[in-house]
Amino acid sequence: MHNRFYVTTPIYYVNAEPHIGHLYTTVLADFLTRFYRLRGYDAFFLTGTDEHGDKIARAAAERGREPQEYADRISAVFRETWRDIGIGFDDFIRTSEPRHRRVVQAILQRVYDAGDIYFSSYGGHYCVGCERFFTEKEMVDGKCPDHDRPLEFVQEENYFFRMSKYQGWLAEHINTHPDFIRPERYRNEVLSILNNEVLEDLCISRPKTRLQWGIPLPFDERYVTYVWFDALINYISALGFPDDSRFKTYWPAAQHLIAKDIVKPHGIFWPTMLKAAGIEPYRNLNVHGYWKMEDAKMSKSLGNVVGPRDLIARFGNDQIRYFFLREMTFGLDAKFTEEAVINRINYDLANDLGNLVKRSFAMTQKYFAGRVPARSSADDAGRGELAALLKASADEYSAAVERCQFSVGLERLWEFVRALNRYIDERKPWALAKEPGSPALASVMRNLLESIHALAVLLAPVCVDGSAKILAGLGRGDTVVAIDTLFSLDCLADGQAITDPGILYPRIEREETPAVSPEKENKPVNTEQDGLLDIGDFAKVDIRVAKVLTAERIEGSDKLLELRVDSGLDERTIIAGIAQHYEPAYLVGKKILLVANLKPAVLFKRTSNGMLLAAKKDKKDAPVLIEVDDRIPVGARLS
Ligand code: MSP
Repeated sequence: MHNRFYVTTPIYYVNAEPHIGHLYTTVLADFLTRFYRLRGYDAFFLTGTDEHGDKIARAAAERGREPQEYADRISAVFRETWRDIGIGFDDFIRTSEPRHRRVVQAILQRVYDAGDIYFSSYGGHYCVGCERFFTEKEMVDGKCPDHDRPLEFVQEENYFFRMSKYQGWLAEHINTHPDFIRPERYRNEVLSILNNEVLEDLCISRPKTRLQWGIPLPFDERYVTYVWFDALINYISALGFPDDSRFKTYWPAAQHLIAKDIVKPHGIFWPTMLKAAGIEPYRNLNVHGYWKMEDAKMSKSLGNVVGPRDLIARFGNDQIRYFFLREMTFGLDAKFTEEAVINRINYDLANDLGNLVKRSFAMTQKYFAGRVPARSSADDAGRGELAALLKASADEYSAAVERCQFSVGLERLWEFVRALNRYIDERKPWALAKEPGSPALASVMRNLLESIHALAVLLAPVCVDGSAKILAGLGRGDTVVAIDTLFSLDCLADGQAITDPGILYPRIEREETPAVSPEKENKPVNTEQDGLLDIGDFAKVDIRVAKVLTAERIEGSDKLLELRVDSGLDERTIIAGIAQHYEPAYLVGKKILLVANLKPAVLFKRTSNGMLLAAKKDKKDAPVLIEVDDRIPVGARLS
C-alpha cells in the first residue's frame, strides 16, 4: 500500500485578487506535493476559493455585480494564475459549487440530528471584515482592531453549534498529539485559549433577511450558513465526503497549511466540527508567519510588483520558490524585501549552485569531450566521503521538510552544494589535467556529475525548471529515480553525452548597499562635545531581546558568524564578530541583546541587519556576550 499525503491551502476569499501572501502558501503546498511524490507517496493537493458571506456579497455589490458572477470572475483569476505559473493542484474547490453545498448541508444535518446545533437569540458586535462577532474585551473603542471600523450591533435569533461541549476533548487531543498544531507557538496559542477561556458556542447561521449569499441550512430555509462553517468543510467536500474513495484514501493523511491569521477557525472550530460530525480530525495543522511587505512597498521596483505573476516575471519561478522556502523560518514572520530576494538569488542560486553546475559541465566538455567519464579504479577521488556527505545532507533535508522546517532543510542541502565547490577548489581538476594519465581526473569529474545529478533530483520540487534543465543536460531527462539510489553516486552511464544547460540562474544586478564596517557601526550615535549623550539620542537606539535561531561560521572569515535571530519584530540575519570566542552551537537558543535599528551592513557578501551586544573590559580581552535572563521575552525593548 502507498504512503499517502494530502495537502491543502486555505481557500482564498474572492474579494481580492491573488497576492504574494497567497502565492507563498500555494507554493509551499506545491513544493510538498512534489517532495512527497518523489518519495513514492500517493499525494493530493487541494486549493480553491471561499466565495460566500457578507464580505463577498458587499464586494460584489460595490462593483454592481451579482455575487455569483463576481465570484466566478475572481475565482477564475486565482485558478488561472496558479495554473499559468505551474502550480500543480489536483483539485480546485469553490464553495459555490453544488458538490460543496451538498456536503455542507449533510454535515449540518448530521450535527443537528446529533443535538449539537440549537436555536437561540444573540446580540453582539459584528465586524463584516472578519465575518464574526467581537466580545467587549476584543473591541478597541467600539471598533474592530484589525479593520479599524465601527462594529455593527446585531441582535437576532440564530443557530449555534455546541462547540463548548468539545473543549475538553480538543485539549486532550492536542496534548496527546504534540504535533497536531505546529510549530509549537501556535499549538500553545490554541492550548492557552482552551485552558484559560470557556469556549463559547459558535453562531453558525445568518438570517436571509440580512444575507442571502450563502448555503441554506437544511433544517431552516430562512437561514444561510455562517461562512466559516461553510468554508472549512471544503477540505472534505472536495474529496467527495462521505462515500467517495478519495475521501477514504486521503483524509487520514490530511495536512493543512495556513498562516497565523486563521489559527482559531482551523485550530478550534474545525476539529470540533469534525468531532461533532463523527469524522476523524486532520493529521497536522501547519501554521506559517506573515511576509511583512512594508519594505517591499517602499522599494522602487517591488512597489510595482502587485501580484504573483509580476513577481515571477521579475525574478523567475524557481528563484521565488527557493526564496520563499529558504528565507522564511516556518512559523515566524519574515521581511519581504527586494534586497533579500536578490541576495538569495545571487549568492545561493547563481553563485553556489549555478557556478557548480557551470564549472562541472565546462570541465567535462574540456577534458572528456562532453562525455561522462568512467571512474578510475586506481583512485576514486574521495567518492566514499562525498557519498556520505550527500547522504547526511539529504537525510537532514528530508527530515527537516517533514517537520515543515523548510529553511533548515535547504540550508542542509546547501552545505553539500558548498562542499562540492570546495571539492573542486581542493582537487583542482585543471591541475590534474596537466598530469598525463592522472587516474584522479576522471573520478573527480564523475563524482561531480553524479553529485550534481543527485542534487538536481533532490531539488526538483523547489527548482522545478533548473532541475529539469540539469537532468536534461545530463541525458537523464525522463529518468525517474528512487532517492535511495542517489547515494551510491553511481547513477549515470559511462560515456553518456552531456550538454551544457546554460546559465541556470543569472545574477541580478542592483545598486550595492555601501558596505559599512562594523567599527563604524560601533561608534556612538551622537556625541556632544563633553562626551555625554542626550537621552533622546539614546532613545533612538532600539535595543531589544532577540533569540538566536541558527548560527554558523562564514566561510573565508575566521572572525565572523552568521546568525539568524528572532527579534520579536521579525526574523533576520546578523553578522557578528565573535567566531573566535563562541562556538555556533553554543549560541543557538540563547537570548541576546540586539541593536535592531542599524542600517544594514554588507559583510562577506551577506547583509547584517543589526548587531548583538557583547562587552569587554580591555581592548585585548575576549568579548563576553550579554546573555539575557530567560524570563525576559523576545522582542522586549531596553529602556
Ligand atoms: N477564506 C479564508 C480561509 C478559509 S480556509 C477554510 C481566508 N482567505 S484569505 O484570502 O484571506 O487568505 C488568507 C491566507 O492567505 C493566509 O492564511 C495565508 O495562507 C495567506 N496569506 C495572506 N497574506 C499573507 C502574508 N502577508 N504572508 C503569508 N501568507 C499570507 O482567510
